[in-house]
Amino acid sequence: MSVENLTPKEIVAELDRYIVGQENAKKSVAIALRNRWRRQKLSDEMREEVVPNNIILIGATGVGKTEIARRLANLSHAPFIKVEASKFTEVGYVGRDVESIIRDLMDISISIIQLEMEEKVSGEAQTLANERLLNILFPTNGAPKEGGDKPEIIERQKRTRDKLREKLSSGKFEEKVVDIDVTEETMPMMQVFGPIGMEEMGMNLQEMFGSSIPKKRKQRRTTISEARRILAIEEMTKLIDHEEVVREARSRVENSGIVFLDEIDKVVGGSAGAGPDVSREGVQRDILPIVEGSNVITKYGVVRTDHVLFIAAGAFHVAKPADMIPELQGRFPIRVEMDNLSAEEFIKILTHPENALIKQYSALLETEGVKLKFTKGAISAIAAIATEVNDATENIGARRLHTIMTTLLEDILFEKSGGKSETISITREMVNNQLEAIVEDQDLSRYIL
Ligand SMILES: Nc1ncnc2c1ncn2[C@@H]1O[C@H](COP(=O)(O)OP(=O)(O)OP(=O)(O)O)[C@@H](O)[C@H]1O
Ligand SMILES: [Mg+2]
Repeated sequence: MSVENLTPKEIVAELDRYIVGQENAKKSVAIALRNRWRRQKLSDEMREEVVPNNIILIGATGVGKTEIARRLANLSHAPFIKVEASKFTEVGYVGRDVESIIRDLMDISISIIQLEMEEKVSGEAQTLANERLLNILFPTNGAPKEGGDKPEIIERQKRTRDKLREKLSSGKFEEKVVDIDVTEETMPMMQVFGPIGMEEMGMNLQEMFGSSIPKKRKQRRTTISEARRILAIEEMTKLIDHEEVVREARSRVENSGIVFLDEIDKVVGGSAGAGPDVSREGVQRDILPIVEGSNVITKYGVVRTDHVLFIAAGAFHVAKPADMIPELQGRFPIRVEMDNLSAEEFIKILTHPENALIKQYSALLETEGVKLKFTKGAISAIAAIATEVNDATENIGARRLHTIMTTLLEDILFEKSGGKSETISITREMVNNQLEAIVEDQDLSRYIL
């Protein structure tokens, strides 16, 4: 199932399994993704005209921006990369240049396609590997000579081989040891440095010339099961057309690639002037061409970024989206404000998502034979404390739940191990007793919660 075939409603439903609330954000990413699919169905000329609906997610820390991206990534079989905008610097300065995003995306795409292709040919490779094993195990040394053998002999040999093949695939010989011929991994003998610039383009002399060095064969003694694995990999490599992998990977990046630019507000300076702001604006200027559509040189050839979908995210506490350079603003037409999370939503976040904290801790303690039971009262007390501490100190959104849960469960996590099975009920009173003192003391909660 590919995300590209999911309807917007289905995408939202998938995201609902992990993300509480934030309906607008889910809706926008779902529409943007579906539009990619719709675009693919258009006529060639029309398709060129449709630009992606790049999105900016605006919201305080810990409200689910990165989480949406992360889940989208798992859900989507499209090449996806998440980068922190603040990690990039202007070309020529120390740090990564923005084009490396597309090169990395291309690498990701290559491995996705490679895996897909491997899956496609793995059955065939397995069969071929088994045949090679058969040849090794039972060499047909009286192989049918030209016209010399009688049909019955050939027939008999075929029958024996069929029987052996059956035994081999039923796992009768797995532990038997055989000698096989394998291509030797050529160890890099030395680091080869290319001219300056090659590195930046993601090129590597070793890789460029590596394939022209003849591969050595060597004998290896191993079990049938291991030999089958090795031979199957060799056959797989032969069956997969590398050119096709590259072609498909490139088309996948160009037509369905997604770049998640996190912390975009960190490269938006408040005031223009001297100092770091200048270079921040420089990063924006560098990002602009790849968002607008440009050709990026990668080691797999030129990749066009015109239709790559960009999703940017930032808290925008200090800087505002309007402080971005106008050209970049124009390229992110969809702005979604994410909501601050309420106590009501904290309750759901604690219990509902498939990776909900309560589920995680319960599972962890289950391994020690301890069953954790949270009463309704306990859960709403945790949510209430999270809200309270967020209001009183700093609002870190749902991240507060992590710190509260670890503090709450610290003793249990420390003490319960290897003991007898038991069930522990976490009640509202327990939560309050455990945490009240810390919550009331603001200085203390600043450090602990
Ligand atoms: N709406 C939500 N539903 C479920 N879990 C959430 C939600 N919001 C946040 N969380 C939880 O809180 C954690 C932090 O959220 P996330 O990383 O998405 O924050 P963010 O919005 O990217 O913040 P920042 O601006 O600091 O990067 C996540 O691990 C996730 O478990
Ligand atoms: Mg984040």
